[in-house]
Amino acid sequence: MPLIEIRDLVVDFDTGKRVVRALHGIDLALERGESLGLVGESGCGKSVTWLAALGLLGPRARVQGDVRLEGMPLLGADARQLERVRGRRIAMIFQDPTSSLNPVHRIGTQLAEALVLHRGMNDRSAWTEARRLLDRVGIANAAQRLNDYPHQLSGGMNQRVMIAMALAGEPDVLIADEPTTALDATIQAQILDLLRSLRDDGGMALVLISHDLGVVAENCQRIAVMYCGRIVETATVADLFAHPAHPYTRGLLAALPEMEGPVRRLEPIPGSVPEPWNLPPGCAFEPRCLHARGECRTSMPTPRRVAAGHSAACVRFGALVSDQAPQGTRLREVA
Ligand SMILES: Nc1ncnc2c1ncn2[C@@H]1O[C@H](COP(=O)(O)OP(=O)(O)O)[C@@H](O)[C@H]1O
Ligand SMILES: [Mg+2]
Repeated sequence: MPLIEIRDLVVDFDTGKRVVRALHGIDLALERGESLGLVGESGCGKSVTWLAALGLLGPRARVQGDVRLEGMPLLGADARQLERVRGRRIAMIFQDPTSSLNPVHRIGTQLAEALVLHRGMNDRSAWTEARRLLDRVGIANAAQRLNDYPHQLSGGMNQRVMIAMALAGEPDVLIADEPTTALDATIQAQILDLLRSLRDDGGMALVLISHDLGVVAENCQRIAVMYCGRIVETATVADLFAHPAHPYTRGLLAALPEMEGPVRRLEPIPGSVPEPWNLPPGCAFEPRCLHARGECRTSMPTPRRVAAGHSAACVRFGALVSDQAPQGTRLREVA
C-alpha cells in the first residue's frame, strides 16, 4: 500500500460568477521515503492538489475523489482526524515563510508550541528540542536564535525555521511547495540540499513542488508533470530526461539551461497556459503543441503506458519517444 494515494481528484472553485474546474482527475501515489517532484507552469494545479488532499481549500472549493494516507480516507475526514494528520503525518511548507510564521512571537516559542501540540512535550523539553531542530536545519547559534522574531532573520533563515517547524511533528512526508522561489540562487541551493539530506537521513518522503524542472530533477527520484489541472506525464527522473514522451515535457526540457557544454539558445514554450475557464475542447496543450494533429483538437488523451513506471497523456507519444530528446538537454544529476 502506498503511503499516500490520490485517485481521480477533481477540484472546482465556485467564484460566484462561475464554477471553474482547477483539477480534472489527478491520480498520484507516493511511496514511503520516496521523493516526488511535481512540476509545471504556474496555475497548473500543483498547490491545489495538496491543499485539497489536506482539506485546506476553504468553502468555495468542491473536492471530489479519493485521498488516502495508508488506506485511511482524508477527503471527508472530520476536523479532528485531519488535525492529527496535518503536521504530524503530513507537513507542508509554503513559498513565503512570512505568511506562515507569526511576526509577533519568538521563533523558539512558535517551534516549542508545535512540539507541545504534535509530540506532547512539556515546555522545557520542547525548548531543548526546538534548539536541536534549529541546529538540524543549519541555523548557527541556535540557542540565541530561539529568542529572535521572524523579522530579525533573513528570508533563507526563515525558510529554515519553517522547515524546522515542519519537522517538529516528525512527519512521514514533507510537502515543500515552491520552497525556494523567493530566495536568491545560493540560498536556494542550500535549502534544497537541506531538504534532500533530511529525506536521506530520516526516511521521510518528500514532495517537492516547483515550476522549475531543473530543481525537481536534481532533488527527486520521480517526477509528475502537470498541465492545466492534469498530470500529463510521470516517470523516474532518468526516464523523463532520456525519453520524454509528452510534448509539454519536451518543451520544459528545451527551456532548461545547461550546466555544461556549449551555450545554446533556450527555447521557451510558445504561447501561454490557458485560463481554466477557457480550455480548448481537445488536449489542453494542443494550441501550443508543435506535434498536434486533428484528433488532438477533439478529445483529451488519457494517460497511457510508455514503459514500466512511465506514462504520458498524449496520442502522439509513440512517434515522439523514439525520437531523440530535445537537443541540448542532458541529465545533470539524479538523486
Ligand atoms: N481559491 C481559489 N479560487 C479560485 N481559483 C483558484 C483558487 N486557488 C487556485 N485557483 C485556480 O486553480 C488553478 C490551479 O492553481 P494552483 O494549484 O495554485 O497552481 P500552481 O500551484 O500550479 O501554480 C489556477 O487556475 C488558479 O487560478
Ligand atoms: Mg502553487
